[in-house]
Amino acid sequence: MLVNRKVQTLDEFTIQQMRDFPNATGELANLLRDIGLAAKRINVEVNKAGLVDILGEAGQVNVQGEDVKKLDIYSNNQLMGVLKHGISCAGIASEEIDDFIAFNDPVSNQSKYVCMFDPLDGSGNIDVNVSIGTIFGVYRRVTPIGTPVTKEDFLQQGKKQIAAGYIVYGSSTMLVYATRRGVNGFTLDPSIGEFTMSHPSIQIPEFGQTYSVNHGNFFKYPKAVQQYITHCQKKEASNGGPYTQRYLGCMVADVHRCLIKGGIFMYPGTTNKPEGKLRLMYECNPFAFIVEVAGGTASNGKDRILDIEPNSLHQRSPIFIGSKGMMAELHEFINKGVE
Ligand code: AHG
Ligand code: MN
Ligand code: MN
Repeated sequence: MLVNRKVQTLDEFTIQQMRDFPNATGELANLLRDIGLAAKRINVEVNKAGLVDILGEAGQVNVQGEDVKKLDIYSNNQLMGVLKHGISCAGIASEEIDDFIAFNDPVSNQSKYVCMFDPLDGSGNIDVNVSIGTIFGVYRRVTPIGTPVTKEDFLQQGKKQIAAGYIVYGSSTMLVYATRRGVNGFTLDPSIGEFTMSHPSIQIPEFGQTYSVNHGNFFKYPKAVQQYITHCQKKEASNGGPYTQRYLGCMVADVHRCLIKGGIFMYPGTTNKPEGKLRLMYECNPFAFIVEVAGGTASNGKDRILDIEPNSLHQRSPIFIGSKGMMAELHEFINKGVE
């Protein structure tokens, strides 16, 4: 009987990738499988969020001082649980937890990886049934194997990531992840409950037709950013402008669109919040890694996101990310200064 090998699941793909590396231990493949499992569980709850009493705020405030929705906590617990009980992660840090967690048991201490995540991104969209996501970044620990992980293992530059990815719970559920070898997208096939390869070797187009930014903050942005946004609205924008504005308020969904179709996503600093809103370690860094591997660019307006030396788990950073050509144009505005 002929088997259609064109249809490849996430697990098949990650295991097959190991064939090129005879010394690979399979630990990263295991870790990705664990994250995929947590994502499937989160997906089930996300899909019935409108039906059961899971909507609404949990009455707690997270470490950022923001209201926590019930699904944020559920998602955090799923990811934490699956990684703690697996054998491929030594510890985690999450938007929902003040400090990092070292799993610190004899098996976990043997793992070479730590994982950072935003368990539920765009949670403001939950109540209205609009796209939300999960973001993760994986680093190789710097402390010796066999010992509990420490903060040093987490506070690494984004360029040290081994893998990074996201899940978007949208009209379909998709898991996209990058290693240095490439970016691949898998769509959840509900009939078999498996993420199935749908977007092999993703490359971000050099130009797109959309820019994604919160226009409500326009007058609080640096003048050069205001000028670039105005440029996007004009006919003379490169590649034919004016561009279309798209903004869902969910970084995962907004950057996902840019990655697939080309475009630029911005969350600049504002006069009252110069560091912007998005978190370096589990929002900006994973996306900067994915987009760079796909051929795009990510900066804080000045420096490459992946070069930023972190000093705390929950620090924020302005971010500009997307198609190379559009990013170059943005930097021209920033570098020439305000007229
Ligand atoms: P989270 O739900 O994890 O707190 O993240 C929401 C983030 C991000 O996804 C989105 O791009 C941004 O908040 C939207 O913020 P504004 O409403 O300020 O535009
Ligand atoms: Mn988020
Ligand atoms: Mn979140």
